Amino acid sequence: MSTILDDLYSNRDAMIMLLNLQSVDHYLYIHSLNVCVYTSLLGIARGYSRDELMTLGLGSLLHDVGKSRIPLDVLLKPGALSKQEFEEMKRHTERGYQLLKDEPNLPLIVAHCAFQHHERLDGSGYPRGIRGSEIHDYAKWIGIVDSYDAMTSHRIYRNAMLPHQAVELLYAGSETLYDTEMLRLFRDKVAIYPVGMTVELSSGQSGVIVDVNTLTMHRPIVRILTNEGGEELKTPYDMDLSKHLSIMISRVVTNGPALAEA
Ligand SMILES: [Fe+2]
Repeated sequence: MSTILDDLYSNRDAMIMLLNLQSVDHYLYIHSLNVCVYTSLLGIARGYSRDELMTLGLGSLLHDVGKSRIPLDVLLKPGALSKQEFEEMKRHTERGYQLLKDEPNLPLIVAHCAFQHHERLDGSGYPRGIRGSEIHDYAKWIGIVDSYDAMTSHRIYRNAMLPHQAVELLYAGSETLYDTEMLRLFRDKVAIYPVGMTVELSSGQSGVIVDVNTLTMHRPIVRILTNEGGEELKTPYDMDLSKHLSIMISRVVTNGPALAEA
């Protein structure tokens, strides 16, 4: 509670903008919180100071705030966007920058996180096509995490990717789109399979993730609950996937409506 109060005192307008996002699009609100948690974990792993983490965290929370200025029929369209609609959607970066840049309690970098989070190393991003070191590190972190969270979320128009599939896809853009060192830290430090998630293994068994291996986050420890034939085990046991390299997680089992976009 004291943290929430501190935030409301020092960054009232920013917090109101975040809550506005919630009323526009609940998914966007949850996505912003996810991105904030991931980038903060990465910032901590990188040894950022508290002030730096605060700026990175605010930049993450508000990176998509410009979407509150995008027409709802485009923002909430349950299918692929037309070229023109996509151009409209891209403007959330500039709109976010405009909304944030003159906020008295926000460092200017926060506005630049909104402006730059879709820029990519090779200049193929938007809105300005800036490249490499022209892009602020915070915007690069947000760019990685933003893409990852979008890929691993269920949307009306497509299923979620498995965490390791999303990481592989990000790696395909290593050095062209994303900084390789940053990707490596992301893969190693962010627990890509959260504890409590139900998974099916390539062996046919299924179970619940009970712990992560800090060195190999993508190979967690699974409590096996059903055997290859789908029958429930009388005595569940733990399997450390870092010691069974031939067995992969083949599916994340979700429990229906929790993931639907209300
Ligand atoms: Fe965005």
